[in-house]
Formats: sequence, C-alpha cells, structure tokens
Amino acid sequence: MSTPEREDAPGVFLPWDSEFFGFRIGRMKASRLTPDALRAVLAWATAEKLRCVYFSADAECAETLALAHTGGFQFVDLRVDLAIPMPSAGAPPAAPGFRPATTADLPALEAISRVAHRDTRFFKDTQFSATRAADLYAEWIQRDFRVHRVFTVPGNAGYVTCQVDSATGTGRIGLIAVAESERGRGLGHGLVGGALRYLGESGCREVRVATQASNVAAQRLYQAFGFRTAEASATYHRWF
Ligand SMILES: CC(C)(COP(=O)(O)OP(=O)(O)OC[C@H]1O[C@@H](n2cnc3c(N)ncnc32)[C@H](O)[C@@H]1OP(=O)(O)O)[C@@H](O)C(=O)NCCC(=O)NCCS
Repeated sequence: MSTPEREDAPGVFLPWDSEFFGFRIGRMKASRLTPDALRAVLAWATAEKLRCVYFSADAECAETLALAHTGGFQFVDLRVDLAIPMPSAGAPPAAPGFRPATTADLPALEAISRVAHRDTRFFKDTQFSATRAADLYAEWIQRDFRVHRVFTVPGNAGYVTCQVDSATGTGRIGLIAVAESERGRGLGHGLVGGALRYLGESGCREVRVATQASNVAAQRLYQAFGFRTAEASATYHRWF
C-alpha cells in the first residue's frame, strides 16, 4: 500500500491509518497554506490516490483558514495542547487504588474507550465509520499498553495512558477516560494526579496533553492542576 516518499512532497502517506480504515490517507507537512501550496497538495493527493488528507493548520493565519475553506477542506476539530512544568506544585494525590493496568484489565478499559472519545475528529467526521472510530480508541489502549503505560483504578472505572520521552524530558498524557456512570466524583482528578506522579518520578520536566477546544470537562480537569495552554491548531480533513 505504501509509495516511496519524495522529500519535497507537500505531505506524507500514512500507512497505519490507511491500513486501519481501509483507504489511502495522508497528512500535510506544512501548517500554513498559500495558493501555490494548496495547488501542490491537491495535485500530490490526486497523484497518490489518497481518499483523505489530514491538515493541522495554524489557526492564527487568516490566509490559511480562507484557503482551506476554498480548497474543500472540512473543519473537524480545534485541538488544544496544554502543558505543565514538573514537578507540579503541591504533588496532587492519585486516586485510591491507582495502579498499572494488566492484560486482565484490558477488555474493560477497551469497552470504555470505544464510547468515551466521541468528541474527537474521527467521530465528528462521519465519513469515517463510527464503528472503526470506536475500534481506533480500543486499539490505542492496546498500543499504549504494549509500548507505554496504562493505569487504572479499582473496578476498572477509568484509565489514563502515559508516555515518557526521556530524550526531551517530556511526559505525555495520551488518553484518559472515566466510565460514564462514574463521572463527576473526582476520579478524573485522581487519574491525572496519578499520571503526574508517575511522570514526575520518571524524570519528566514537563507534561503535555492534547484535547479538543469543545471538551470543557477535560480542560477544566487539566486546568485544576495548573496546566496552561501551550498551542492551538485547527484540524481539517480533505476528502477526495
Ligand atoms: C474528562 C473526564 C475524564 C473527567 O472525569 P470525571 O471523573 O468526571 O472528573 P472529575 O469528577 O474529577 O471532575 C473533573 C472536572 O471536570 C468537570 N466536569 C465534569 N463533567 C463536566 C461537564 N460535563 N461539563 C463541564 N465540566 C465538567 C468537573 O466539574 C471538574 O471540574 P472542577 O474541578 O472545576 O469542578 C470524563 O468526563 C471523561 O471520561 N470524558 C470522556 C473522555 C474524554 O473526554 N477524555 C479527555 C480527552 S482524552
């Protein structure tokens, strides 16, 4: 399915996404558009026989936003990246019973992940099958379990996944969710608290997390710990 990439191509082919969704998907390299860049990306996508191109746009650039619109890009998400320096003040407590997940926990955590992330671009863009979008988040939990860390709480009421980049000293909260019936009782706080402790103990000097501007609950949760906005970008999908 893959094609050799030209270094000067305006985008990259995404083999994993293409395999997972069953059609060819690419991603634009640049975060800004000019009329020439738009022509180049559309020509590249056509030559590559892509069905979908992801575009993470610099939302500050008016020309980019206007050209994305006229170029047929569909706005799907305003992504917000939040960051907190470590150690964070006041070492927040982990939820009681916060622990690394085991293989026995995975089915229950995957069941939560299938329904918890509906505020994301793969659900909002209905050209992606909702079933495959749900599978994507279950797959994400499995991947993080294999290559990073997944933590849970008693009764598998929620999870948080953490990555450590030792080279840069940056930690990342990947996915976090609480089962719908258990929300609003402080578990989200306990999961973030546990994640920050783990990432701090792993030597991270900064922790980052991405969420959607529309996800008020998640933003309030991170803000309560002192996370502050570091970056924002507009995400588009261009379908062919
Ligand atoms: C975000 C989430 C993990 C919070 O879990 P939770 O157990 O309900 O969290 P808590 O009880 O600790 O509350 C956390 C904060 O969210 C706020 N909150 C919860 N639901 C909210 C809602 N629907 N709207 C606005 N704020 C909400 C709470 O008021 C609290 O803020 P506060 O400290 O200012 O009072 C949960 O809503 C969830 O699983 N959402 C779906 C998955 C998701 O969006 N994950 C984040 C992106 S990966």
